[in-house]
Amino acid sequence: MGPLIQIQQLHKQYSTKNHILHAVKNASLTIGKGESFGLVGESGSGKSTLGKMLIGLESPTAGDINYAGGPLWKNGRFVNPRAGDIQIVFQDPQSSLDPRMTVKDIIREPLYALPESERKEKGSPARLQLLIRRVGLKEDHLSRYPHEFSGGQRQRIAIARALITDPSFLILDEPTSALDVSVQAQVLNLLKELKRERNLTYLFISHNMSVIRYMCERMAVMYKGHIVETGPSQSMFKQPVHPYTKILLSSLPSVHEETSNGMGFAEPAPMMKESCVFYEKCPARWDKCRHAAPETECLENGHQISCHFKEVSVHV
Ligand SMILES: Nc1ncnc2c1ncn2[C@@H]1O[C@H](COP(=O)(O)OP(=O)(O)OP(=O)(O)O)[C@@H](O)[C@H]1O
Ligand SMILES: [Mg+2]
Repeated sequence: MGPLIQIQQLHKQYSTKNHILHAVKNASLTIGKGESFGLVGESGSGKSTLGKMLIGLESPTAGDINYAGGPLWKNGRFVNPRAGDIQIVFQDPQSSLDPRMTVKDIIREPLYALPESERKEKGSPARLQLLIRRVGLKEDHLSRYPHEFSGGQRQRIAIARALITDPSFLILDEPTSALDVSVQAQVLNLLKELKRERNLTYLFISHNMSVIRYMCERMAVMYKGHIVETGPSQSMFKQPVHPYTKILLSSLPSVHEETSNGMGFAEPAPMMKESCVFYEKCPARWDKCRHAAPETECLENGHQISCHFKEVSVHV
């Protein structure tokens, strides 16, 4: 399985009134063709920002993204290799579907990025009917409006919209987080089936570790804009290496509620500018972590990790 996406030293900063915020910091990762790749990390760690740079909704401040062998960004401009080849499904189908548009028009919307001949063929009534049925809805739903549907049904509409252009790559940004638990499983199974049928590649962003475990072959953990560990999901769950990954995976499901210190975080310690990003809260920190940010290292089990872990004697 060759790589579809190679991200190298990707950086995104936002300038606010008083300071510069680094949402994604020198992130590097590879997503294989046909792979479902999970991205986890607490709220504000930069997951959505990274996803948005892959579909042109945000522009990188620095770094490279290669997609199917070519750069996605050239001189600050997004160059989609084949229009519609990358699509996104957002968390909240309530706000991502225009209430004034019929389901048919919503699903057809991404086709406007395609050349006219392709637009006609891909948006044919027969194809729309096939697609709406494939996502578990009915043909007569095409003429209705979003408010006539449940949350799960709306997310099925959003999935149909993402598929209309026949994409190779889907970014799924918390696609089931807003849904009832019973509905979540149905939508996840639909996504799994669609991936198999269409040989899709997924970037699956979620807070929910069980969902990541169920959906993803490999995963990355983000902390404050940094990718601190990547690897095969199975071994990450079985043998996480980075202290933050250990805490994240052992404190299901509300790791982003950082207010209490009941999850294994250490008492906050003052950082230096060049400290490891997790120094302040790391229960396994030592002197070196305060004075040097770790390099990314490859381990035998397919993990890549940014941590002075080898020298760490106190484990979480
Ligand atoms: N347009 C923007 N302008 C300024 N800051 C932004 C912007 N978009 C995101 N940020 C900031 O960048 C950081 C990363 O945000 P991002 O939405 O990528 O996090 P996330 O990991 O997706 O969080 P969540 O799990 O809550 O969705 C946050 O501090 C956020 O406030
Ligand atoms: Mg997000």
